[in-house]
Amino acid sequence: MSDNNAIALIERIEAVAARYPNAKSAIIPALHLAQEQYGWLPPEAFEAVAEALDTTPAFAQSVASFYDMFHLQPAGKHLIEVCTNVACALNGAGGVLEEFEQQLGIHNGDSTADGQYTLRSVECLGGCGTAPTVAVNNRYREFFERSQVKPLLAELKATTTGWTEGEGQV
Ligand code: FES
Repeated sequence: MSDNNAIALIERIEAVAARYPNAKSAIIPALHLAQEQYGWLPPEAFEAVAEALDTTPAFAQSVASFYDMFHLQPAGKHLIEVCTNVACALNGAGGVLEEFEQQLGIHNGDSTADGQYTLRSVECLGGCGTAPTVAVNNRYREFFERSQVKPLLAELKATTTGWTEGEGQV
């Protein structure tokens, strides 16, 4: 990212932070904005967030590391998150995750070599009543069955946008 992009990011974060009585309180939206810009959260993202919120990169990183929604490693264009917590596990999430691994040829937590897909198991997505729940580019697919994996991947292959391009972000 060029210096101009970093400056633009800092300005966007400062504009959001101005809505809060204390700038540090805007840490979550700030991290979302940085992730939207970089596609993940590299060290320079934490530096930009820290500068905008008058805090330290270490503070920004400590907050980001607590939440599943922030990516400390580069993520693929399409982010697939399979909930494997109790309700989803009891309704077949293990098989769904396994099918994604087989179809994508990667393991849980990895990204495909072409940078198209990142697959992660996550803790409860809050969709327990419609388990198993899968979040695809931050949008929920409910009552998701193993047989739906292949059609979903075909659908994603045909789309032009991904999670870093305005799907479900800030
Ligand atoms: S256990 Fe999967 S959404 Fe709650």
